[in-house]
Amino acid sequence: MPPDTLASLLAAASARLKASGSETPMLDARLLLQAAAGLTREDLILGPDRQLSREQLSVFEGFVGRRAHHEPVSRILGAREFYGRVFRVTPHTLDPRPDTETIIEAALKLMPQAARLLDLGTGTGAIAITLLAERPDATGIATDLSPAALAVARENAERLGVAGRLTLLAGSWFAPVSGLFDIILSNPPYIPSGEIAGLDPEVRNFDPALALSGGTDGLDPYRIIASGAAAHLAAGGRVLVEIGAGQAADVERIFVARGFLPAGRHSDLGGHVRCLGFNRAQK
Ligand SMILES: C[S@@+](CC[C@H](N)C(=O)[O-])C[C@H]1O[C@@H](n2cnc3c(N)ncnc32)[C@H](O)[C@@H]1O
Repeated sequence: MPPDTLASLLAAASARLKASGSETPMLDARLLLQAAAGLTREDLILGPDRQLSREQLSVFEGFVGRRAHHEPVSRILGAREFYGRVFRVTPHTLDPRPDTETIIEAALKLMPQAARLLDLGTGTGAIAITLLAERPDATGIATDLSPAALAVARENAERLGVAGRLTLLAGSWFAPVSGLFDIILSNPPYIPSGEIAGLDPEVRNFDPALALSGGTDGLDPYRIIASGAAAHLAAGGRVLVEIGAGQAADVERIFVARGFLPAGRHSDLGGHVRCLGFNRAQK
């Protein structure tokens, strides 16, 4: 194979990424090559002998070097597809995960007409923006402690056409929020703080610490959300929270102690309970 054709660059990059530990080296290499050269997948298939310009080659080599140092492709490209829409991702936001689509599916089944939703710890806005985009009659508020993350959520909301129905508020959990909501959602940080150092470098080195640590046992945000949710839940409303592996029983205990009833366990595609629902117990 002649050097520096698309095919040879792809093969070499894939081999390098495999050696550095990527589980999807060919896919990673292809996405990076497409982005560096402004090409589609069809371009690669139809023109494997094409060559890159010097500038494109330099960009591609930079991308591959970053990926070899465990930076996720979505962070290198600054974009992640979530529930069929592309979200901008920056170092200030969690990289939205496919598992979080579980809470979307659960919420879509529950949302009443003209639903009012509250998304706590919105990051890129993936949850709130997706639900508002799927339900054009819904309105919502999304909060985050990080103003830099909220700026990304604002940009995503504008690009995805829901900014007129989404209010973004900076502050801790319920602190900046007033009013009642039909559905309160959160994918809070839920990793026990002592486990962060042992996470994959893709997560540990690139997701913001604020998006990961849930305190000593990983459950602090659930305690705060459970204690504040009743004051913001409309009659018949539902709380939906994403959880980490093995946290279901503990999180249910926390909500039950605050007067909620468990109202559904929702599993991700891997079969793990990923999302819990809660109703307000009737008085
Ligand atoms: C696990 S990330 C989830 C982001 C987004 N909802 C998603 O699912 O991709 C948790 C988010 O909570 C935010 N956060 C952390 N502590 C917070 C707090 N005290 N109040 C509000 N948001 C907080 C982080 O900045 C981060 O954006």
